[in-house]
Amino acid sequence: MVRIILAFIFSLTCSLAWAESPTYIRAGQVFTGTGDALLPNMVIVVEGERIKSLSPASEVTIPKDANVIDLSTSIVLPGLIDCHTHIDHRADRYDPILQFRDGSFRGAFYAVQNAKVTVEAGFTTIRDLGSDPFLACELRDVINEGAVVGPRIIASGPGISMTGGHGDLNNYAPEVKFEVFPAERGFRIADGVDQVRRTVRAQLKHGVDVVKIHASGGVMSRGNSPGASQFTVEELKAAVYEAHAAGKKIAAHAHGTQAIKNATEAGVDSIEHGSLIDDEGIELMKKHGTWLVADIYNDDYLLGKAIEFKLPQEMIDKEKAIGRLQRENFAKAVKGGVKIAYGTDAGIYPHGDNAKQFFYMVKFGLTPAQSIRSATSDAAELIGRSADLGSISAGKFADVIAVDTNPLSDVTALEKVTFVMKGGTVLKSHK
Ligand code: ARG
Repeated sequence: MVRIILAFIFSLTCSLAWAESPTYIRAGQVFTGTGDALLPNMVIVVEGERIKSLSPASEVTIPKDANVIDLSTSIVLPGLIDCHTHIDHRADRYDPILQFRDGSFRGAFYAVQNAKVTVEAGFTTIRDLGSDPFLACELRDVINEGAVVGPRIIASGPGISMTGGHGDLNNYAPEVKFEVFPAERGFRIADGVDQVRRTVRAQLKHGVDVVKIHASGGVMSRGNSPGASQFTVEELKAAVYEAHAAGKKIAAHAHGTQAIKNATEAGVDSIEHGSLIDDEGIELMKKHGTWLVADIYNDDYLLGKAIEFKLPQEMIDKEKAIGRLQRENFAKAVKGGVKIAYGTDAGIYPHGDNAKQFFYMVKFGLTPAQSIRSATSDAAELIGRSADLGSISAGKFADVIAVDTNPLSDVTALEKVTFVMKGGTVLKSHK
């Protein structure tokens, strides 16, 4: 009883403390994350880690000694969401020999740096789709504990792959054995319905928020083709069943025309890449309400800077084969009315450059407002976090960013974020 009373007094004090010191953000213009328009001259009231209200400045009286953040010459938006990152990956590490020299902790140290540049670029939430087990889960937790600066993380384990699939180590002599993480295989490689089930369950047991599965070959793996389907529909269905039974979403890496259909039919929540989608695939995704998360900036980096970092010729060739097609097919999917969420595959190109994809999304068919919604309210819907994230409105987390020029006239404005608040805490302010 005493404890209950103490807890009550404590929570009362906390809420009083918060109630006493809200922060008032004066916003020149606001893009709320849901509509098309910019709202001029607004005030956002932040209490604790949440937004208390968004109102026209004329309706708000700001107390004299209040804590005020002046963004009255800026355009203010919700924190951005990247639905496809690899937070432990380095975009300067394509030389296979160097990759094998790196110990497993190195990825974790780099992930700390990557998390910081990501949130400072205005991406206050990421859905991490494939890091070593279970780096993203632990990074998520230490960020939540306040020990590391970074975005909110919706974490997966390693992408689940069939033997010889996109997530396997391929093209080495059969007698070559990599004993990187002996335990890792059980979290990464699965064949047959039972093993797929077991692998998804094992990942869930270790705390993933989302499951990632490879339904086709890929560009950045050896000895397989992006066009080739991987896993049977039955295997994919088993993964979907287990993820959904646990209340989690599941994302499928799928470049290939048939792989996109297989994964969509199996019931995944999002198709990642979607490079070779055809009209039938577009219709199927619409019918199932499946999201498309297409990393259409990557091609620039892979056929540019990555080559200087010794990207293997096989990968250059595969990128040349699908990069342009992916952008054209993205445009068809947009026209066809497929739901689009923003995801970049950051880690393939340097973390912190996440906003560079907006330009291509507009070039290939979205309006600037749609492209921003794909990284705010729409992304929040895909990741199942609409109640907390994706818009500037009462009750949401106070994840708020600002830019100096109007992103609705030139979306590249989002590449220069000058202010970042996450959960009511200012992480960047270049004013
Ligand atoms: N992770 C993807 C893969 O290896 C990257 C594809 C990058 N290329 C592209 N055009 N999106 O398949």
